Amino acid sequence: MDDAQLHDLQERTPELAALLAEGSAAAAAAAEPDALEQVRVRFLGRKSRLTEILRSISSLPAAERPVVGKLGNVVRVELERLVAAREDELRGASLAAALTAERLDITLPGVPLPRGHRHLISRTIREVEDIFLGMGYKVAEGPEIELDYYNFTALNTPDDHPARSVDDTFFIDQRTAIRRAAGDAGASPAGAAAVSAAGSPGGDAAASAPVVGDLLLRTQTSPVQVRTMESQEPPVYIICPGKVYRPDLDATHTPMFHQVEGLAVDRGITLADLKGTLHQFAREFFGADRAIRLRPHFFPFTEPSVELDVQCLLCGGTGCRSCKYSGWLEILGAGMVDPNLYGFVGYDSGELQGFAFGMGVERMAMLKHGVPDARALFDNDLRFLEQF
Ligand code: PHE
Repeated sequence: MDDAQLHDLQERTPELAALLAEGSAAAAAAAEPDALEQVRVRFLGRKSRLTEILRSISSLPAAERPVVGKLGNVVRVELERLVAAREDELRGASLAAALTAERLDITLPGVPLPRGHRHLISRTIREVEDIFLGMGYKVAEGPEIELDYYNFTALNTPDDHPARSVDDTFFIDQRTAIRRAAGDAGASPAGAAAVSAAGSPGGDAAASAPVVGDLLLRTQTSPVQVRTMESQEPPVYIICPGKVYRPDLDATHTPMFHQVEGLAVDRGITLADLKGTLHQFAREFFGADRAIRLRPHFFPFTEPSVELDVQCLLCGGTGCRSCKYSGWLEILGAGMVDPNLYGFVGYDSGELQGFAFGMGVERMAMLKHGVPDARALFDNDLRFLEQF
């Protein structure tokens, strides 16, 4: 509304001018949407004075009608504009207040997420793998639920070998073990065939006892070596990491543990190659100045067999409690592959030589890091695991 209109209004309809002044003051004073709504009802609603004036125009003297009609509308439009403008103002203010109150400070530091790391056992397996990968070996894996044939028979293990008793091996079908104890030699490639047909039992009518199969939890990762030789031509240079199972539980044994075994089969391999390979491994794993020694031993699948000792990590060889005052720590078993094994996998034993070795990962980790109890490795207490 311009000055001329305002002047006109004050001169000709002072009551409308007063309503306008009063209404605009009230709208300006409304501090929140509810209060503003009341102002709108009071000055523009159906029962407001302005509406009353506009409705009763017809009863005015003819000369006044157009003036009051026109100026009344001007005032109505002006008041509506003022209320709407104030409404915008209030909405803007409350938005600004909310924005201020709820502002996110993106420069504040976040909630820290603790960072995990590999378990000591996984780390140790990788360390061992890295060392042998560096010497040209490949990693091979196989099943943890294994056939008796691969875990024992094809590894040249006689039927009456103590490792085949229920005290040393978790058999999946205990009847297998009982049958064996009764003197019935059940482990053979035929036994293996019965297992592979285990999905359709009853296929073998000749079997008198209801044998499900010669299944067990593998006690070593050596069966992977047999499986690998079965499936590929020599030369073979592999290491086999993985979980193995034996019914033991004390400070240095857990019923599930890990091994890394290795196999090299080629022409012209000698015990000197085995010793050189193990020495290189011991240096990389335990430190360059560690002395090693080989001691004669026995394993069914190697001939000759040895055990590898490393100079005690704690006393350096002078003798202490940890090495039982011998100065040496037993690290792993090894030997030259018994030629009998080649017969099981169709290799020519006249042409080939090889060596094999196997180590317990828990033992390696415990020796290297001074862990006194193997069970702590699987309690999953983070205060323990975080140390490594
Ligand atoms: N398989 C043997 C064990 O579990 C270790 C071993 C592997 C020994 C290869 C000699 C050669 O005790």
